[in-house]
Amino acid sequence: MPTLGVNIDHVATVRQARKTIEPDPVWAAVLAELGGADGITVHLREDRRHIQDRDLEVLKKTVQVPINLELAAVPEMTKIATGMKPFKVTLVPEKREEVTTEGGLDVAGNLERIQECVKELQNAGIIVSLFIDPDDKQIEASKKVGVESIELHTGCYADASTPVQQGEELGILIQASLLAEKNDLELHVGHGLTYRNVQRVAAIPQVQELNIGHSIISRAVMVGFERAVREMKALINP
Ligand code: PXP
Repeated sequence: MPTLGVNIDHVATVRQARKTIEPDPVWAAVLAELGGADGITVHLREDRRHIQDRDLEVLKKTVQVPINLELAAVPEMTKIATGMKPFKVTLVPEKREEVTTEGGLDVAGNLERIQECVKELQNAGIIVSLFIDPDDKQIEASKKVGVESIELHTGCYADASTPVQQGEELGILIQASLLAEKNDLELHVGHGLTYRNVQRVAAIPQVQELNIGHSIISRAVMVGFERAVREMKALINP
């Protein structure tokens, strides 16, 4: 049975829009846990646009399920991770100007640098995963750097504009999953997965973990909106 890691970054995005204390991503993490999340995922970006260092500290003390910390493979971030010691770190590529993580990590093109970062994290007792495109070269390079798992970027599948294109992208994910299995890599998937497109990916037998954020947070806003308005109305007109 695949597990669900809930990415709570965009709860912090809403908070940072006002630089206030609500909504608190830690509160969201606890609710996600009560809802059955098997893990909590957060991305500490170098520009701190959503998750803050304080969130990591409080999450570590509060959350009972494993925390998956997404980070750029740079010394500032590995230092934070080795201090916090989350259950797992997923190394991701990061560009300051991007709206969200746009592509997978180029492990094959940065073998030595990534290997160094992986070793440092593993020496601190942290499981390491690499967020990569479903590409044979990147999967084989991930095996070479000695990680326990990879997360396949599902963005192309999610962005497919026709059923035929979506089928083709699913085929690419299936092939990549088989190669991950052959290389003994635990398989995670994520990015752009929604209530409409998740089932075909979750059904790939090798998939062990799905990391989903934006769609869950989007739905949470909608399903909670009516109650939030009712509660404000009741305060105004008691
Ligand atoms: N996995 C990784 C590595 C990511 O960077 C993200 C986005 O931060 C996700 C999963 C979740 O993607 P989404 O918010 O589109 O569900």
